[in-house]
Formats: sequence, C-alpha cells, structure tokens
Amino acid sequence: MTESHPARIGIIGGSGFQRLLGLTDARTVHCATAFGAPSSPVVTGYLGGVPVAFLQRHGPGHAIPPASINVKANIAALRSVGCIQILSMSAVGSLREDVPPGHFVLVDQFIDRTLMRDKTFFGPGLVGHVPFGDPVCGRMREALADSAAAAGVPARDGGTYVVMEGPQFSTRAESRLYRQWDGTVIGMTAMPEAKLAREAELCYALVAIPTDYDCWFESQEPVNAALVAERMTEIGDSARRLVEEAVQRLGRHGGACRCGCDRALDTAIMTAPEQ
Ligand code: ADE
Repeated sequence: MTESHPARIGIIGGSGFQRLLGLTDARTVHCATAFGAPSSPVVTGYLGGVPVAFLQRHGPGHAIPPASINVKANIAALRSVGCIQILSMSAVGSLREDVPPGHFVLVDQFIDRTLMRDKTFFGPGLVGHVPFGDPVCGRMREALADSAAAAGVPARDGGTYVVMEGPQFSTRAESRLYRQWDGTVIGMTAMPEAKLAREAELCYALVAIPTDYDCWFESQEPVNAALVAERMTEIGDSARRLVEEAVQRLGRHGGACRCGCDRALDTAIMTAPEQ
C-alpha cells in the first residue's frame, strides 16, 4: 500500500465529483483488503486543509453496477487509511413534489429492498447484530445541515431513502408504492453501505442528491440514465460547496461519537467467547 494521508473523513461518490473536489497533495492508495479489491483506488489528500479520502463507488469510468459493488472492500479500504467518518454522496430519484432535482436530502432512514447483496461482515462462527434504528450518525447529519445552510445549498434535514435492487429503474406502480410508504427518495446504492459502515463502527451519513422525479410524476420527464448524468453535472457545483463546508465541521469531530457509532459492536455479539 502506498503511504497515505491520515484521512479521517472518507467520501464516497462519483469519479466526476472527485475531479470537482480537487484534493490538494492527492495520493493514490491501492488498498488490498481481506474482502478483495475496492471499487477504485482510494485518493487521499486535503480539502480546505482537512485530511480526506475519496473512493469512487462505481469505479473509474462508472463500470461497476450497483449490485456488484464490493461494499465490504470499500468500507475496509476507507477504514484502513484512517477514516472514522464516511460521507456518502448518492444520486437518487425524488418521491416528493416538494423535493425537486437539486434539493439535497440529509437522509435519516432507509427502507432496504435489495435482495442480492452481501450485507454483513459477520458469518458462521461469529454471529453479531448491530443496532440500526438510527442508521445515520446524528452528529454528522447535524454538521451537514449547518453546512448546507452556510453554503446556501437547499437541503431537507431528514428523509427516507428507499434502496432498490436495480439495475432497471422502478415501474410506475412500484414508484407509487414507495410514495405510500412515505419514501422521500429512491436509489440503488445506500445498502449495504450504511449497514457495513455501522458494523465497522464508522460514523456514516448520506447526502441524497435528487436528479429526477423517478416515474410517478407523470407531468415530468421520467427518469433515464442520461437524465441522471446530465443533472449530476448541473448539480455538481452545489454538492462541491456543501462538501467543502461539511469537511470543516466534520474535521473537528473528535472523541467518542455521542450516537455510539464507534461502539456499535459493544452490544452486538451473540457468539459465546471461546472457553
Ligand atoms: N438514481 C437517480 N435517480 C434514480 C431513480 N429514479 N431510481 C433509482 N436510482 C436513481
């Protein structure tokens, strides 16, 4: 592994976003983890003087589909370069009229509808069940809300992210169902990312970036991949401003997390210790 900076904030996002952030003194770190290779090398560097590490969720060139992302390796790689907080940036569809494209959502809940993914670091021999009633670190979300206000970026504090398997977008009937479930946004990547971050005892927060109204809102253009890519380019600058503000606040977090993210395993293990 190449020598890295002491990164405390791991940022997961797209390759275009990494370029936009323009980390200073950037170093590319090829992490080998016990779970295989992460989606991309980790780039460590500084953002406004704060040490960060960036990982491209879908790999260079966006070549890895949502269900094939090696999330365990991604989380392990970020942890291995010293990250204790993960800031996840995720393009989503909006399930609410009052959350238009470009209006960020600081997610506080998830509905996990994914089926085919490897969702735990535990397994035969070591059984563990981490608490997950509050899946997002409250301390990070508070910092993000303050950062959005400071950056002048529209953001809704709280919302439910419905995580679908994909890779196809939803049917209109599914989209309407998720609205009935009070979903705020829909996307394909937040799980098992949030679950594995909790098992790894990392603080985790997700900024959902609505690019479209999915397909429920019939007077609007229904989602398609080209639309998502186009809108992400348009919204990129606000996302950059939000993250630049956020790392200043997140960089000041030290000591024990008041939400207990860093102690999630204290009460989780069911397997008896070896006699
Ligand atoms: N990512 C961006 N828009 C989306 C949508 N409508 N459904 C699922 N994932 C998305």
